[in-house]
Order: sequence, then C-alpha cells, then structure tokens
Amino acid sequence: MPKVTIDGIAIDVPEGTTILQAARMIGERDKADRHVVPPAMCYYTSLKTSGGYCRTCIVKVTKGSEKDPRPMPKPVASCRTNVMDGMEVANTTDPGLVDARNGVVEMLLINHPLDCPICDQAGECHLQDLSYENGKEASRYEFERRTFEPIDIGETIKLHMTRCILCYRCVKVADQLTDDRVHGVINRGDVSEISTYIQNAIENDFSGNMIDVCPVGALTDRTFRFASRVWFTKPVDAHRNCENPKCKGHVVLWLKGNEVLRVTGRKDMWGEVESFICNTCRFDKKDLAAWTVEGPRQIDRHSVIAQGHYNLERKQALLTSPAPNVPELAKRKELKDR
Ligand code: SF4
Ligand code: FES
Repeated sequence: MPKVTIDGIAIDVPEGTTILQAARMIGERDKADRHVVPPAMCYYTSLKTSGGYCRTCIVKVTKGSEKDPRPMPKPVASCRTNVMDGMEVANTTDPGLVDARNGVVEMLLINHPLDCPICDQAGECHLQDLSYENGKEASRYEFERRTFEPIDIGETIKLHMTRCILCYRCVKVADQLTDDRVHGVINRGDVSEISTYIQNAIENDFSGNMIDVCPVGALTDRTFRFASRVWFTKPVDAHRNCENPKCKGHVVLWLKGNEVLRVTGRKDMWGEVESFICNTCRFDKKDLAAWTVEGPRQIDRHSVIAQGHYNLERKQALLTSPAPNVPELAKRKELKDR
C-alpha cells in the first residue's frame, strides 16, 4: 500500500487513491487532523468524472515518490492526482500554496454577487465557508460583473446563474441520476453558463439532487425559497418507505415547529449527500406524518448550522476551546505569524 504524508501526517492508502481521498482518510481517522483536507468545490465522491474544474483543492507535492523524489513543479489538483508511495504533500504548511489557493478563491469570486444576506444557501454554502477561510476582504476587480436574471427551471428549481461557479456537479447529477438531461454548460470562457437548452424544464424524478450538490446558491429549492434562514430551522433525520426503487427515503427534514419547511438528502462530514433522494420525497412529502423521525441531525460542518443546540459535543468543544473551531484558520494564523 502506498504511503503518503500530508502536512507531516502519514497514512497508508490503497493503490489508486487520490491525494484528496487520502487527506479525507486522515481527517476521518482523527478529527484534529482535518486541516490536512483541501477544500473541494467541484469533486463529489458519488459523481463519476467530477473534479478537475475549480482548482480549490490544489496542493503542493514536495516529494513525488520514493522512486522519484523530485517535487512537482507547480500546484496540482488533489482530487485528480493519485498518491505514489513515499509522496509528500503540503496543504496548509506551505505559505506559497495557501497564497495560490487564495488566488483561486479570488478568481471564483470575481463575478459572484456576494448576496449572502438574501441567498437561501447562506449558512450552508461551501463558497461562503471557502471565502471565510481563504478569501480577501475586498475585491481588486474593477470591471462590471456579469449578471443574469434568475430563471425557473422546472416547477421546483430556481437558477441564479450569477452565483454559479461552473463546477459541473449539477450536470453530472443530470447525466448520471436522471434519464433525460436537458441542461448543461453552454459557451466557453467567461461567457460560459448553465442553461437548459431552449428553456426546457427539468422535470425528472431525481432532478432535485442538483440543489443538494450545488456548492453555492445557484440552484435553490423553489418550495423553500425565503421560507426561513437555515439556522432558524431544526434539522432531524427521518425516513419513509419510498416506492421509488432508486430512493432509500433517508432524508433530513428541516422543521419549524411541526412544519416541514424543506426536505434534503443527508450529507456526510464532507458536505456530500450519502444517498440521493427522489423528487417525491423532496417536494411532495411536506407533512410530518408522512415520515418516521429518527432524531436530531448531527451537522458535522463548521457552518453556522453546526452551532445548533442539538450538537452537544460541538457546543462543548466551542465552550472549552480558545482556538477558532476551524483548524485550518488556526493553521493559517500560525503561518501568518511566522
Ligand atoms: S449551478 Fe451549482 S452545481 Fe451547477 S455548475 Fe453552477 S455552481 Fe455547480
Ligand atoms: S475539487 Fe479538485 S479541482 Fe475542484
């Protein structure tokens, strides 16, 4: 088994593992080591051929392998680079790499409207987290930002192209989970955009998963829009016997009192859906009686939702730790202070 060392922490991984997957294995082994895990805005474990678009997961390979120890000449996308035996990688320990990632984030934000106060994704937005950890306070961009009118694609999904970072995840969902893909990225370069060809509505039974995989607020749930800020809701795990053979019916209900404001898939510690759900579960079962509630949802992310009073372990950690709850922030501060 190849051995890889990331930010000084070693792990043996199966052949064919990418640097990002190896870093996540380290993070799963010990929560305290999660700072070695690069952010990933386009890679999605369960979507084939995802990754390689956004460049947020770049790392520096300081030693190629035991056989060929030469460092790689420039940062590489960790989601697309396999580990080699003896490889050494820097994620947060190399100031140059941290700087390069900040540049990627600045680039992603060039056209972004930064309309978090009115965006439904606020509080669970990966771009918001990324900007907080790697962004700059002000933009150097002086030109007019490109803008698009929000459009309805189907009865349940709203597209705000202005917020899109062209990660292609929704396209992969449409390709791999639904029968008829009617949307994609059209045009190239700075005029690229997600579009339904000739405004076709997206109406297949798994299309709602595009909302869950979208790392920003570009695809939002029209049945939940402006219903509540996400941190005012109470997420609970629930299930039902779904008639759709491809859907397990394992969901998170986002409640306000006994009212089901939203239904989503369950996400793991890396913000990825554990099992995709059908549109019937997502959009048509807004009655609590339709579900068997299992208990409070543990939100294992560093977004504002994780501050919910359900998560006692998290609350305890916040109360007792003088350090920020994001290990990477602490690391970066350490780097800045050097
Ligand atoms: S709409 Fe969302 S999921 Fe689709 S490409 Fe844009 S950012 Fe990615
Ligand atoms: S997550 Fe690797 S390039 Fe986007």
